[in-house]
Amino acid sequence: MDNGDYWSATWQPVKNPLDDYKCRHGPSYTKIMAKKNGIESEILYFTPLEDNCELWVLKLRNDGSETRRLKTFSYVEYSFPHALADITNLDWTNQIMRGIEEDGVLYMISHGTDSKFYHASSETIAGFDTDRSAFIGPYRDLGNPQVLEEGESKESEAPNGNIIGSISHEVELDPGEERRIVHVLGDEYADNSRPILSKYRSLEKVDAEFERLQDNWREYFEKLQVDTPDEEMNAMLNRWNPIQCRTTLYWSRSASLYQTGTSRGMGTRDSSQDTFGVVHAASRSAKKKLEMLWELQFEDGHTWHQIYPLTGEGGPGLAAEEPEKPQWFSDDPLWLILGTCNYMKETGDTGFLEKRIPYQDAEPEPVWNHMRRAIDFTDTHRGVYEIPRIGYSDWNDTLNLDHGSGKAASVWTGMMFSHVLREMEKICRRIGKEKKVQRYGELRREMKNIINEHCWDGGWYMRAFDDKGRPIGTSKERYQKISLNPQTWSVISGVAEEGRGETAMEKAHEKLNTRFGFALMHPPYEGEDERIGGTTTFLPGAKENGGIFCHAHTWSMVAAAKLGWGNRAYQYYRQLLPLAYNDECDLRRTEPYVYCQNILGPEHPDFGRAANSWLSGTASWSYVAGTQWILGIRPDFDGLRIDPCIPPKWSGYKVIRKFRGSRYDVEVKNPEGVAKGIESISVDGEELDGELVPAFEDGNKHKVRAVLG
Ligand code: GLC
Repeated sequence: MDNGDYWSATWQPVKNPLDDYKCRHGPSYTKIMAKKNGIESEILYFTPLEDNCELWVLKLRNDGSETRRLKTFSYVEYSFPHALADITNLDWTNQIMRGIEEDGVLYMISHGTDSKFYHASSETIAGFDTDRSAFIGPYRDLGNPQVLEEGESKESEAPNGNIIGSISHEVELDPGEERRIVHVLGDEYADNSRPILSKYRSLEKVDAEFERLQDNWREYFEKLQVDTPDEEMNAMLNRWNPIQCRTTLYWSRSASLYQTGTSRGMGTRDSSQDTFGVVHAASRSAKKKLEMLWELQFEDGHTWHQIYPLTGEGGPGLAAEEPEKPQWFSDDPLWLILGTCNYMKETGDTGFLEKRIPYQDAEPEPVWNHMRRAIDFTDTHRGVYEIPRIGYSDWNDTLNLDHGSGKAASVWTGMMFSHVLREMEKICRRIGKEKKVQRYGELRREMKNIINEHCWDGGWYMRAFDDKGRPIGTSKERYQKISLNPQTWSVISGVAEEGRGETAMEKAHEKLNTRFGFALMHPPYEGEDERIGGTTTFLPGAKENGGIFCHAHTWSMVAAAKLGWGNRAYQYYRQLLPLAYNDECDLRRTEPYVYCQNILGPEHPDFGRAANSWLSGTASWSYVAGTQWILGIRPDFDGLRIDPCIPPKWSGYKVIRKFRGSRYDVEVKNPEGVAKGIESISVDGEELDGELVPAFEDGNKHKVRAVLG
């Protein structure tokens, strides 16, 4: 206030240079710190665990030797509560919005709808604005808003147009003095603002809520902590990877910078896989998610592809855009079986199989029946050579081969089916369904034989068959001669016959691996081709058209580990590791601590640029690959399996793993420098036979010592 200078405590949008700037992201919070002319500021952003509001805690400190008079201005732009209308009907949305001030609280009201957002603070306000044009002023932008330049709010109450919230405070700081102001944002209809506002006037309560939030995370992280020779791997597995996994569990792909939240709900396929990365630390949430997803199933065994979490309404997802094509996806219900198996292996709760869950079109039945029906659906929907039909697509949304002949089939789904059948056999053995063990075993062997007989291309496995029964992913095609998924899954599923898994993975490495990871296939298509579908709409090297699809890349780590390729498994892990690209942010353009969905491939002019960070199955699968296949600590029905596959140069590592109420302090030593193979293993000093550490379920701490050799 003394010299008219102004700046952004958030670095931007006002571009007047700062003396210092730092931004720090942590679990469920962000802190932005700045220094300017002897004033230090820090803003902490977080949402409390239970109260439905967002807090911005601004701290100001006078580092100089004179008393300083400042004014602060908050700023928030509201989106219209109905996202589609916000894009398509400005004529309407612009005329029904209002911004008002009542007792120092700003409200954004949309006339005639149930929404009223508020913005308030813990201190008496010195001024406010709700009209964007008034705040910014004509012919200006957020770099030099009129209100900041003049140092005076306009007290604007917007009768229409773009509504903002800006609250101003006057702050006088003596030398060394510090002040904190809490800003609160929320939804008046969802939660009455009064109790929330009075609570967060108290700085002690704000601090206590922040501590609770951090405690909640600490408890989450404690479930699995690793200490390997690779610091970046440790940082990802101990912090950021779990943070991302929990985030994808809540949000799936529904709303983000990349998915606008208007058409993507939660996917059966995606959300099932998201449970894989959280089940060890949030098994109840994983179970709840699985229950919700099983409800999307129909009595014939197929499932809806997606659900809108706010309404609970299911639907065929992107298949709805092409109603002439099948409205089901061949892999959806199979992922649910895997999610359910993982849940039971982690918790031992096989009682879940008896939980009754309704179908979309029929009365509730036990989860076990849901699983059985999913298998039956795949079994009874076969295309060419009796390989499972692909449906609208398999895991690859853009492989839309089915044009009605009933021949189009997915080799990859066949492999996944085999993998799932093997899990079903294990469960049946446990619950004493011997006849089913036999049936599923036969089905699995049949699938394996079919694939080895008809889908081996000489050096690798084919990807799929088109509507006329012609193969895709074979050297005889011009494009997509080789595809990644059937190579990785031939190993994961155990479908590959002697030696073929190694050959297939070796070829995949040779033809698809790049500095940033595996391209999904090669060579990419060069223009739209109805026969193939969505893949061919992308530029060569982008997304499913030969881009590096990170989720698919993660399966290469699992496959390499299964083959005992310690160096390769680790190389593939590092190729995707966000922290390994800390110095290449300008190229990548995604956060260096979060996995992303795709990276542009070598044929693309922007090779190496990443996109769709946060909301990707890459998070859960990288976590599973890192902890369960490289470090090899894998839950099983009767205990924890210790089966590492590490780079031979590692001399060992440690893992603390909580499992069914007990704590396992695992130390693995590698004196002979091998990649895989347990020489000896002891628990609390007693030698074990085999690699399965029992599930003690006793609440105690147990020392596990494993020696590779
Ligand atoms: C997207 C979808 C996912 C799909 C993948 C490959 O990430 O969310 O369901 O498996 O693309 O097409």
